[in-house]
Parts: sequence; C-alpha cells; structure tokens
Amino acid sequence: MSDISTIYLDYAATTPIDPRVIDKMSPFLSDPHYCGNSASTHAWGQRARQAVSDARAAVAALIDAVPEEIIWTSGATESNNLALKGVMALYQARGKHIVTMKTEHSCVLETCQQLEKKGFSVTYLSPKRDGLLDTDIFSDALREDTVLVSIMHMNNETGVIQDIKTLSEITAARGILFHSDVAQSAGKIPISVKDMPVDLLSLSAHKFYGPKGIGALYLRQKPRVRVAPLFHGGGQEQGMRSGTLPVHQIVGMGAACAIAHLEMSRDLTHIDSISHRFLENFEKHTSIMINGDRLHAYPGIVNIGFPGVDARRFVEAHSSIAMSVGSACYAKGAEASYVLRAMGLTERDAAASIRFSFGRFTTEQEVDEAARVITPDFSLFCHPREDGDPC
Ligand SMILES: Cc1ncc(COP(=O)(O)O)c(C=O)c1O
Repeated sequence: MSDISTIYLDYAATTPIDPRVIDKMSPFLSDPHYCGNSASTHAWGQRARQAVSDARAAVAALIDAVPEEIIWTSGATESNNLALKGVMALYQARGKHIVTMKTEHSCVLETCQQLEKKGFSVTYLSPKRDGLLDTDIFSDALREDTVLVSIMHMNNETGVIQDIKTLSEITAARGILFHSDVAQSAGKIPISVKDMPVDLLSLSAHKFYGPKGIGALYLRQKPRVRVAPLFHGGGQEQGMRSGTLPVHQIVGMGAACAIAHLEMSRDLTHIDSISHRFLENFEKHTSIMINGDRLHAYPGIVNIGFPGVDARRFVEAHSSIAMSVGSACYAKGAEASYVLRAMGLTERDAAASIRFSFGRFTTEQEVDEAARVITPDFSLFCHPREDGDPC
C-alpha cells in the first residue's frame, strides 16, 4: 500500500481528480435536489438534463466538435469496443477488413481478435523503431474491402504521437472510416475534428483529471457516422448507448474538459519543463535509452530503457515511486511490453524499460527526489546474463 511519501509518476495509468472537478460533481452526489434522472420530465430531471447538456458541450468544445457528435460511455475501453464492433456490424456490406497497429491498447487489439473470430479480417501494422507508422506501409495495407482503420493518437507506453491528420486524409480519400483512440491525448494536446477528417474518437475522463468510469465516443455528423449499439434498452444516446446516464460522472468529465481546454498550454509548458528536468538527471548515464521518437512525442510520458536491468524487480523494489513497466494492463502480465517488442526492441531490452509519466500536479521536488532515489545503482537489478555477467 502507498504511504504519504509516495511520488506519483504514473499519470498515463490514471490521473488524480482535479479538486475543481470534485467541487462540480459534489452536489450531484450529495444534494437530493440534484438526484434526478436526466430522462425525467420533472424539475429534478430537467436539472440533470441541463447538467448533461452543459457537459456534452464542454467535451465537444475540447475537440472542436458539436454536442450532438458526443455519445457518453463508461470510458475508452467501451468507446473502442463500440467504435470497432459498432462500425463493423453496421457497415459490413462495404467489406470486412480492418487496419490497426500492433502498438494499440489491449482493448483495441482484443476487440479486433474478437471480430476476427466473427469472420472479419484484421491487418496489424508494425511501427518503425521510433514507434511511428510509415505512411507508405499504411497506404499499402488499405484494400478494396477495408471498412475501418483504428490508429491511436498518443501511445500510452511511449508517448509517441501518430500523424492522425495525414493518415485520416488518406482514408477519407478512399471512403474508409477512421477511428482513433485519443484516450491519452485528449485534454493534453490540441485535437480538432475540424482540422482532420477523423470519423470516430474514443475519450476517457480519468486520463485528464476527471473521474474514472466515464468516457465518450465522438461520431462525425457530416458525413454522418453511426454505430450499432452494444447494449439495448432505453434508447439513450441516440439509441447507440442505452442506460441511465451517470450525471455526476458526466458533470465531472465536462468540468475536466473545460479546465483542460482553458489550461492546456499552461499544463504543457509545466509538463515539458518537469520532463526535461527529470531526464537531465540521467544524462551522465550514457547507457540508458529513451524508447520512441521524442520529437513526435508527449513530454509527459517518457519510456526509459536501462540496459540489463530487470525493470519489473526494480519497480517493485522502489514502491514509494509510482512508475510502471509497460501499461497498467501489461503490468499484471508476465511478458515484456508488446508495444516495445513491436517497435523492434529485444525481449531483454523491453524487459529493462520503465515508463514515467508526469502531469498537472507533478512538482520539481518530486522528479528530483525520484531521480535521486532511482539513479544510484541500476546494476543491483540486472538480469543475470547467459554468460554469467550481471549486466
Ligand atoms: C490508449 C488507451 N486506450 C484505452 C484505455 C482504456 O481506458 P479506460 O480506462 O477509460 O477504459 C487506456 C487506459 O488505460 C489507454 O491508455
């Protein structure tokens, strides 16, 4: 269990809720006047409906969309499932082929595998060594029967940012739908659906200081994109996502979006400076490697390879610092990060890599202290080598 001396450098796994978000959510949890079901016609319902509508407008504004293009979900896992399964169910007359990347989040990859079992075919593209997708390789993978492309914006393990604008322009020219998992980038870097012809985007509030358990799916209106629902029921969310709306969560996501929109450039400046400060501590350790292109990456996610080190043991031994080996999902598993392996790292180098992620509340003191604690002796945590040498 964590103690008060813990330094939280795992913002890519989840972020703490901004206290201003909690303030906005609070009446919807504690005041009976705010308990209404947003589908009800009485005053309580109207109050809830107004709050949902304001939050929807805030989510839309964050990505330059209109409110009618936003569907509430329980988070990016559901948004990704709804996007992929929902599009393939509805548009299968056009074809049965999907293109995605090997470095996607497991909720996209697992969904693709489920679709393959149902007769759809999926091409899983490898990135280059720097984590970026080669546009020629991408274009070559598109087929006559390709219906949907799903490429994430910002990678959750490396922070590498794909050129979604260029990729979606290629698909738009060929009448192929483009979905992007923007769970890591939304609220952190600018996204405008007016600037790029993406059709569907998946967002998650807990990645940008909102509550867990709430997310959204953006669905373009012009030209109109729809998805077949995963759940059937009361017909909420234009019939695409039934279920009583969790008003308090929605209010929280709206508040998080409004703050992110207003403070994005301040957050970015702060995180960039924190990230540089942290990395400066490792400059004298010439053997370490930064995984992934840094020019096309978010400074708030840094993936460092410490050659020869058993990263899992290292992270476990330094439990007062929240850092992670791969994504939070991978951290439960046994193998080295599939994302780093897809980028061409050896099993050994992937198993020697640690993700550090910073955010709005990370302080200079925290990154200095973290670096002071973790730099001194990596060799203690080296994998034994076949030749007997520790590193
Ligand atoms: C890129 C990416 N996609 C999807 C998810 C899943 O999001 P959620 O926790 O909202 O289901 C995550 C979070 O771990 C993520 O980093």
